[in-house]
Amino acid sequence: MNKSKTPGTRSAAALNTPTHLSEEAVREISAALNGLLADAFALYLKTKNFHWHVSGPHFRDYHLLFDDQAAQIFATTDELAERVRKIGGTTLRSIGDIAKHQSVKDNNDPFVSPAEMLRELVADNKAAVQTMRNAHELADKHEDVATASILENFIDQAEQRTWFLFEASRGADASGH
Ligand SMILES: [Fe+2]
Repeated sequence: MNKSKTPGTRSAAALNTPTHLSEEAVREISAALNGLLADAFALYLKTKNFHWHVSGPHFRDYHLLFDDQAAQIFATTDELAERVRKIGGTTLRSIGDIAKHQSVKDNNDPFVSPAEMLRELVADNKAAVQTMRNAHELADKHEDVATASILENFIDQAEQRTWFLFEASRGADASGH
Protein backbone atom coordinates (compact mmCIF):
# COMPACT_ATOMS: atom_id res chain seq x y z
CA MET A 1 0.00 0.00 0.00
CA ASN A 2 1.27 3.43 -0.90
CA LYS A 3 1.95 5.75 1.95
CA SER A 4 0.52 9.14 1.10
CA LYS A 5 2.68 12.09 1.99
CA THR A 6 1.47 14.48 4.64
CA PRO A 7 0.57 17.76 2.93
CA GLY A 8 3.19 20.43 3.41
CA THR A 9 6.08 18.04 3.98
CA ARG A 10 7.44 17.99 0.43
CA SER A 11 10.65 19.93 0.22
CA ALA A 12 11.00 23.14 -1.76
CA ALA A 13 13.29 21.20 -4.13
CA ALA A 14 10.08 19.97 -5.77
CA LEU A 15 9.56 23.58 -6.92
CA ASN A 16 12.85 23.84 -8.85
CA THR A 17 11.77 25.26 -12.20
CA PRO A 18 14.33 24.36 -14.89
CA THR A 19 16.53 27.38 -15.66
CA HIS A 20 19.78 28.21 -17.37
CA LEU A 21 20.83 30.35 -14.39
CA SER A 22 23.35 29.06 -11.87
CA GLU A 23 22.26 28.07 -8.37
CA GLU A 24 24.06 31.13 -7.02
CA ALA A 25 22.22 33.39 -9.46
CA VAL A 26 18.85 31.90 -8.53
CA ARG A 27 19.61 32.32 -4.83
CA GLU A 28 20.85 35.90 -5.11
CA ILE A 29 18.24 37.16 -7.58
CA SER A 30 15.39 35.46 -5.69
CA ALA A 31 16.51 37.06 -2.43
CA ALA A 32 16.67 40.50 -4.06
CA LEU A 33 13.26 40.10 -5.76
CA ASN A 34 11.64 38.82 -2.57
CA GLY A 35 12.92 41.91 -0.74
CA LEU A 36 11.41 44.08 -3.48
CA LEU A 37 8.16 42.13 -3.27
CA ALA A 38 7.91 42.62 0.51
CA ASP A 39 8.60 46.34 0.03
CA ALA A 40 5.99 46.58 -2.71
CA PHE A 41 3.33 45.10 -0.40
CA ALA A 42 4.41 47.38 2.47
CA LEU A 43 4.43 50.48 0.27
CA TYR A 44 1.12 49.47 -1.32
CA LEU A 45 -0.53 49.27 2.09
CA LYS A 46 1.07 52.50 3.32
CA THR A 47 -0.14 54.32 0.20
CA LYS A 48 -3.66 52.90 0.74
CA ASN A 49 -3.43 53.87 4.42
CA PHE A 50 -2.75 57.47 3.33
CA HIS A 51 -5.50 57.25 0.68
CA TRP A 52 -7.94 56.28 3.45
CA HIS A 53 -6.73 58.73 6.10
CA VAL A 54 -5.69 61.88 4.22
CA SER A 55 -7.61 65.05 5.15
CA GLY A 56 -7.53 68.76 4.37
CA PRO A 57 -8.15 71.18 1.50
CA HIS A 58 -6.45 68.95 -1.11
CA PHE A 59 -8.32 65.86 0.00
CA ARG A 60 -9.65 64.92 -3.42
CA ASP A 61 -6.31 65.39 -5.23
CA TYR A 62 -4.27 63.43 -2.72
CA HIS A 63 -6.94 60.78 -2.18
CA LEU A 64 -7.01 60.05 -5.92
CA LEU A 65 -3.24 60.33 -6.42
CA PHE A 66 -2.57 57.83 -3.62
CA ASP A 67 -5.13 55.42 -5.06
CA ASP A 68 -3.53 55.56 -8.53
CA GLN A 69 -0.10 54.98 -7.05
CA ALA A 70 -1.27 52.13 -4.81
CA ALA A 71 -2.79 50.36 -7.82
CA GLN A 72 0.46 50.76 -9.78
CA ILE A 73 2.50 49.36 -6.89
CA PHE A 74 0.11 46.43 -6.35
CA ALA A 75 0.36 45.52 -10.04
CA THR A 76 4.11 44.93 -9.61
CA THR A 77 3.65 42.24 -6.93
CA ASP A 78 2.49 39.39 -9.14
CA GLU A 79 5.23 40.08 -11.71
CA LEU A 80 7.94 40.10 -9.04
CA ALA A 81 6.68 36.88 -7.39
CA GLU A 82 6.25 35.06 -10.69
CA ARG A 83 9.69 36.14 -11.88
CA VAL A 84 11.12 34.38 -8.81
CA ARG A 85 9.15 31.22 -9.65
CA LYS A 86 10.17 31.37 -13.32
CA ILE A 87 13.83 31.11 -12.38
CA GLY A 88 13.18 28.30 -9.89
CA GLY A 89 13.22 30.24 -6.63
CA THR A 90 10.44 30.37 -4.06
CA THR A 91 8.69 33.51 -2.94
CA LEU A 92 6.67 35.01 -0.10
CA ARG A 93 3.82 33.06 1.47
CA SER A 94 2.21 35.28 4.09
CA ILE A 95 1.86 38.66 5.74
CA GLY A 96 4.39 37.38 8.29
CA ASP A 97 6.81 36.68 5.45
CA ILE A 98 6.33 40.23 4.16
CA ALA A 99 7.07 41.65 7.62
CA LYS A 100 10.28 39.61 7.80
CA HIS A 101 11.56 40.80 4.41
CA GLN A 102 10.38 44.43 4.14
CA SER A 103 12.77 47.37 4.47
CA VAL A 104 9.98 49.98 4.08
CA LYS A 105 9.00 51.24 7.53
CA ASP A 106 5.29 50.97 8.43
CA ASN A 107 3.48 54.10 9.58
CA ASN A 108 0.84 53.29 12.20
CA ASP A 109 0.48 56.85 13.51
CA PRO A 110 -3.14 57.78 14.31
CA PHE A 111 -2.78 61.09 12.42
CA VAL A 112 -0.34 62.00 9.63
CA SER A 113 -0.49 65.47 8.04
CA PRO A 114 -0.78 65.59 4.22
CA ALA A 115 2.67 67.23 3.96
CA GLU A 116 4.15 64.43 6.04
CA MET A 117 2.42 61.79 3.90
CA LEU A 118 3.88 63.27 0.73
CA ARG A 119 7.35 63.60 2.23
CA GLU A 120 7.33 60.03 3.52
CA LEU A 121 6.10 58.56 0.22
CA VAL A 122 8.75 60.53 -1.72
CA ALA A 123 11.42 59.03 0.55
CA ASP A 124 10.00 55.50 0.31
CA ASN A 125 9.69 55.63 -3.49
CA LYS A 126 13.21 57.05 -3.83
CA ALA A 127 14.51 54.26 -1.61
CA ALA A 128 12.61 51.74 -3.76
CA VAL A 129 14.37 53.09 -6.87
CA GLN A 130 17.74 52.53 -5.20
CA THR A 131 16.83 48.99 -4.08
CA MET A 132 15.63 48.16 -7.60
CA ARG A 133 18.82 49.59 -9.11
CA ASN A 134 20.84 47.30 -6.82
CA ALA A 135 18.72 44.31 -7.90
CA HIS A 136 19.22 45.35 -11.53
CA GLU A 137 22.99 45.30 -11.04
CA LEU A 138 22.71 41.79 -9.65
CA ALA A 139 20.57 40.69 -12.61
CA ASP A 140 23.18 42.18 -14.98
CA LYS A 141 25.97 40.34 -13.16
CA HIS A 142 24.16 37.04 -13.79
CA GLU A 143 23.04 38.04 -17.30
CA ASP A 144 19.38 37.70 -16.27
CA VAL A 145 18.08 40.09 -18.92
CA ALA A 146 14.39 39.42 -18.25
CA THR A 147 14.64 40.39 -14.58
CA ALA A 148 16.64 43.47 -15.60
CA SER A 149 13.97 44.41 -18.15
CA ILE A 150 11.10 44.11 -15.64
CA LEU A 151 13.05 46.21 -13.14
CA GLU A 152 13.73 48.93 -15.71
CA ASN A 153 9.97 49.47 -16.09
CA PHE A 154 9.38 49.39 -12.36
CA ILE A 155 12.19 51.91 -11.77
CA ASP A 156 10.58 54.23 -14.31
CA GLN A 157 7.22 53.89 -12.52
CA ALA A 158 8.75 54.58 -9.10
CA GLU A 159 10.52 57.64 -10.51
CA GLN A 160 7.21 58.86 -11.89
CA ARG A 161 5.53 58.36 -8.51
CA THR A 162 8.36 60.29 -6.84
CA TRP A 163 7.95 63.11 -9.38
CA PHE A 164 4.17 63.42 -8.83
CA LEU A 165 4.53 63.27 -5.04
CA PHE A 166 7.34 65.81 -5.05
CA GLU A 167 5.42 68.26 -7.24
CA ALA A 168 2.28 67.82 -5.14
CA SER A 169 4.30 68.55 -1.99
CA ARG A 170 5.76 71.88 -3.23
CA GLY A 171 4.86 74.62 -0.79
CA ALA A 172 2.53 72.36 1.22
CA ASP A 173 2.49 73.28 4.88
CA ALA A 174 1.75 70.88 7.72
CA SER A 175 -1.99 71.65 7.55
CA GLY A 176 -2.09 70.57 3.90
CA HIS A 177 -2.53 74.06 2.47
FE1 LIG B 1 -10.59 53.85 -2.29
